[in-house]
Amino acid sequence: MQNNLADRADAVRFPHYAVAGQAGTSFKPEHLPAILAASDRCGFFEVHAENYMGAGGPPHRALERIRQDYPVSIHGVCMSLGGPQPLDPDHLQRFKALVDRYEPAMISEHLAWSTHDDIFYNDLLPLPYNEATLTHVCDHVDQMQSVIGRRIFLENPSTYVAFTDTTMAEVDFIREIARRTGCGLLLDVNNVFVSAANHGFSALDYLKDFPLESVEQIHLAGHAEQEDGAGEKLLIDSHDRPVADAVWQLYEIVLSRRGPVPTLIEWDSELPDWPVLRAEARAAQAILDRHSDTGGLRDAAE
Ligand SMILES: [Fe+2]
Repeated sequence: MQNNLADRADAVRFPHYAVAGQAGTSFKPEHLPAILAASDRCGFFEVHAENYMGAGGPPHRALERIRQDYPVSIHGVCMSLGGPQPLDPDHLQRFKALVDRYEPAMISEHLAWSTHDDIFYNDLLPLPYNEATLTHVCDHVDQMQSVIGRRIFLENPSTYVAFTDTTMAEVDFIREIARRTGCGLLLDVNNVFVSAANHGFSALDYLKDFPLESVEQIHLAGHAEQEDGAGEKLLIDSHDRPVADAVWQLYEIVLSRRGPVPTLIEWDSELPDWPVLRAEARAAQAILDRHSDTGGLRDAAE
């Protein structure tokens, strides 16, 4: 019986759908009935890998249903590519099984760490940028791409602290990972805005230096504004509200340089009704469509 179920799962094959120039949203099973009932299509849906690592049950039933009609993106949050420890081989195999099962259009992970020894943190923690950590991250990206048999896109983090043993700019660190491993990049424009505000650098300067030629996907999300212990403004990458106007403006600038790139609206808590999330994706799609004739990387040609 076990084998029969496994054979059936392996036998599932989904249609291929293009994602070029499309806007998508996070997929939340609560939205499934509304998505299926809607008359208009969304470009694609993204799920967190760790929510689908069980063998079956309601999460997989919902994802299999959505995958029949749409391309999906699988986004990992727990691989801990930025950590000093070896990657967890069991987690890697679970991730590979998910990729094999759903044939995602895009696969991504964070430039962060979240495990130490056998402790799993809920947060994505930042790392210092230097030659030693660069070697570690590149080894981990190589290993992940080798095990799952696919190219991944690495996401720039939102950060709240910096390290004294950092010797490289984040953009240079990320560029070098892409060069050494051949991975693509997932540019989270909201993360850039949040980090820039928290550390006091220019988001425009960061984006000017970012290796846009390697960007294969974009994330947009809402952020919250708080105060730190000293009463200073602190932005939190909260994914619980609409995308801020300033982030939309940065997104437009990125597309004017890079051309249209599959773009995801991330929304993970304080979940709105489907039409609200759909409207955010429509707004992204309108900007993508405005840049559909942008061949990409105008800067490089100028
Ligand atoms: Fe993101």
